[in-house]
Amino acid sequence: LSRTPGSTIWLTGLPGSGKTTIARLLAVALRDRGITEVEVLDGDALRAGLSADLGFDRAGRDEQVRRVAYVCELLNRHGVTAVVSLVSPYERAREQARARSAGMILVHVDCPLPVLLKRDPKGLYRKALAGEIEHFTGIDDPYELPERPDLRLRTDEQRPDECVEAVIGLLDERGYLPSE
Ligand SMILES: Nc1ncnc2c1ncn2[C@@H]1O[C@H](COP(=O)(O)OP(=O)(O)OP(=O)(O)O)[C@@H](O)[C@H]1O
Ligand SMILES: [Mg+2]
Repeated sequence: LSRTPGSTIWLTGLPGSGKTTIARLLAVALRDRGITEVEVLDGDALRAGLSADLGFDRAGRDEQVRRVAYVCELLNRHGVTAVVSLVSPYERAREQARARSAGMILVHVDCPLPVLLKRDPKGLYRKALAGEIEHFTGIDDPYELPERPDLRLRTDEQRPDECVEAVIGLLDERGYLPSE
């Protein structure tokens, strides 16, 4: 029995764009398509664990990306596919992570700011606009658009299941999925 090498699917985007929603659905879809070993690495959980010591300034955010890329490398090496849902706002750190992980799929989860302000699932945009929290990406902290993502999703135009299908389609096209 040969071990399928794992890969990394990295979802980047503004808060509320849909990274966590898509990551969870994608993990299920991957299992349906025969990728049984899947680990979701989500920003919120990481902040509570692996990166609890880090802040939200550039150095903290870049260090978080570096650590997550390292964990992905370990998981991939053991045949586990990693799905990362992390704001990861800086292009250079994302590209460094991409360079480390052969075959990483970088997905920009894109959505216009007015729609995000309306969604505001955690109420954080409201707090950021009221000045109650600082360093909030999209409000008073930058988000550098990915220059060369493998895929760009528009979550104001596509439903979550359509977004997942688009990712699965790309993985299929690139030969990441076991043939049925
Ligand atoms: N196509 C879509 N894909 C994903 N989420 C969508 C889509 N359309 C609407 N939504 C809604 O947008 C919200 C996205 O919230 P979610 O927590 O997934 O964002 P996030 O990118 O993980 O944010 P954060 O960076 O704050 O963790 C959810 O309420 C979800 O139901
Ligand atoms: Mg999230």
